[in-house]
Amino acid sequence: MQASSFALLDEHPTTANRDESAFAASNKLVALWRQWQALADDLMPLLLTPRACHDFLGDITVCAGTVMSLIRQAPDIGIFHMVFPNPDKMHRYSVLHAMHTAMLLALIGQRKDWGDKRTASAVKAGLTMNLSITNLQIDLALQSAPLTTAQREAIDTHPLTSWKLLQDLGVQDEEWLIAVAQHHEQPDGKGYPQGLTDLHQMADAIRTCDVFGAKISPRIGRTGMPTPRAASEIFRQRSAGYFGATIIRELGLYPPGCLVELATGHHAVVVKRSCDPNAPDVVTLPAFERCRATQGSGRHIVGAASDQSWAERVSAEQALIHA
Ligand SMILES: [Fe+2]
Repeated sequence: MQASSFALLDEHPTTANRDESAFAASNKLVALWRQWQALADDLMPLLLTPRACHDFLGDITVCAGTVMSLIRQAPDIGIFHMVFPNPDKMHRYSVLHAMHTAMLLALIGQRKDWGDKRTASAVKAGLTMNLSITNLQIDLALQSAPLTTAQREAIDTHPLTSWKLLQDLGVQDEEWLIAVAQHHEQPDGKGYPQGLTDLHQMADAIRTCDVFGAKISPRIGRTGMPTPRAASEIFRQRSAGYFGATIIRELGLYPPGCLVELATGHHAVVVKRSCDPNAPDVVTLPAFERCRATQGSGRHIVGAASDQSWAERVSAEQALIHA
């Protein structure tokens, strides 16, 4: 587990300024959360109407830089933004999904020492993998009826239509382009649209991040899958093995943003990873008390929260201000 950047929270000031320091640190977490929200706002027009953008290539590069910067500053908040089951997520599903896939790719890039240039290519590919169907994905997240023939065809061809669209918009980065074109191919040849078996490594990484993010996202008629179940399903998918293991190692079974049940019977939201993947820091609900969920304290995590509706009653910012 990589060291969290929440160093301020670990210093445990012993002087009279303790409350003030904790408050400042919590405010910083909320500010970082709001930067993710602002990034999603910036991405909306870029991903929904890319041809209307004056400088698509420049703007998407800036957004990718923001993803990498936010992950360097506070990976826990990026993960929290993806995992916390905020019900509003459905209404801009495709934009958030692209941003969260890019966020996971930034984490993988750090973990695998890809370096800034290669990580930036992966992050930009994650942001734009579904560029030709961004609007359709929002419709589908809210649609309970079966796919129409036209919708099915758009989905089946979107890796290559997105690849072509990116070229039209001026993208020349080969890794970025290949990763988008191959992001639904699978090593066993059962992917689409070309049924390739020899895949670019970056496409492999994007597919794994894409599948994981999609599993934990809410859709109409169903809530997102609790993270531990999504993690175990990722492990069971042989084709997702290599990067799936990286994601699970990076996030743990109960990552920040996850609603959990403690041995005490209380519900809580995970706010920070610790060096022990089984004992993250949590904020209890509805008391908003922060503690580390260790076995020794009797407050260890026994599973995903049985009542996921906490996310409708508690905002992310309310949890983070107490973190
Ligand atoms: Fe896709």
